[in-house]
Amino acid sequence: MIDLRSDTLTKPTEAMRKAMYAAEVGDAGRTDAAGRGEDPTVNRLEDLAARLMGKEAAMFVPSGNMGNLAALMTHCAAGQRVGVEKKLHVYHNEKAAFQARPGGLIPEFFETDDQSYPQFESIKTILNQKQIGLLCLESTHNYGGGNCLTRETIDSICELAKEKGVAVHLDGARIHNAALYLQTPVAELVAALDTVMFCLSKGLGAPVGSMLCGSDDFILEARKTRKFLGGTMRQAGILAAAGIVAIEQQRDRLIEDHQHARLLAERIADNRNIRLDMDSVQTNMVKLDVSPSGRDAQAFQEALESRGLKANAVSDRFIRLVTYREIGTDDILRAAEIINACCREF
Ligand SMILES: Cc1ncc(COP(=O)(O)O)c(C=O)c1O
Repeated sequence: MIDLRSDTLTKPTEAMRKAMYAAEVGDAGRTDAAGRGEDPTVNRLEDLAARLMGKEAAMFVPSGNMGNLAALMTHCAAGQRVGVEKKLHVYHNEKAAFQARPGGLIPEFFETDDQSYPQFESIKTILNQKQIGLLCLESTHNYGGGNCLTRETIDSICELAKEKGVAVHLDGARIHNAALYLQTPVAELVAALDTVMFCLSKGLGAPVGSMLCGSDDFILEARKTRKFLGGTMRQAGILAAAGIVAIEQQRDRLIEDHQHARLLAERIADNRNIRLDMDSVQTNMVKLDVSPSGRDAQAFQEALESRGLKANAVSDRFIRLVTYREIGTDDILRAAEIINACCREF
């Protein structure tokens, strides 16, 4: 079975496992006035992440989900409005932020085009018409199929938000994929943003964890939100050690995943039973519109699985395929054959 459901399937490397075994640990939940815990490996990971992202501070959280949730709940008080679009992970999956408890935030939707790129005019409209506490972006865009926001786009949206005194948070679960695709140093890409969350546990391959990065004052407050959410960890250096290896050794490798996604897309693009926009194949995802086949995405997914390929139906029309470290060129060629065989049959 070839499994292209998600890069969350990436397993920790040998080097990560060794680093985890050897990690020096302490009580990360016992903090000083500056919010610094007693686990030296967690502190090292937080310093490394902050430096990498060009922000003053960073906080280790158990998941991307909690990183986003902690960001939203630290930026805003209950009852405040947050600019989002409907397909953002932050809105769709971090539901707790927009329910009465614990977040109590109110979503204020801006529009995107059909590639999931935010519409500047629509953002302008909600910023002008409503009292917004925070604006959220996502890059790479999960539902959009791994496409990236350029530095120019991020900067112009941040400039607009700043004119209104509104902070901007980026769900950058896969921001290192975007930085590679755009050939822009990640700290430059995120420079204008107030806060960024990125995941260690997707293509970077760590078993657990994400980083929330921002100013010293913001992260000090975010540590309180993390505690409120039950996310304070103790000898978390065992996990942070894998995160350090992920940052130091796995970022450049993501380019292989991008090449594999491109190869897969090229091998299947000619099928008349699917629709595939090659411009949207930028990082480690391929998003297929299977509606020309006359089947819905769920049926298409089942047909693929019966032939040995797992993929993810993300809506009635779309199937998402994601590449990661354990997927080699042979797997990609075989996956393309399976998709082509399925298309011939429909
Ligand atoms: C864009 C995006 N943000 C956040 C997350 C949440 O990360 P986690 O699974 O670590 O909670 C995901 C997970 O797939 C994601 O794709």
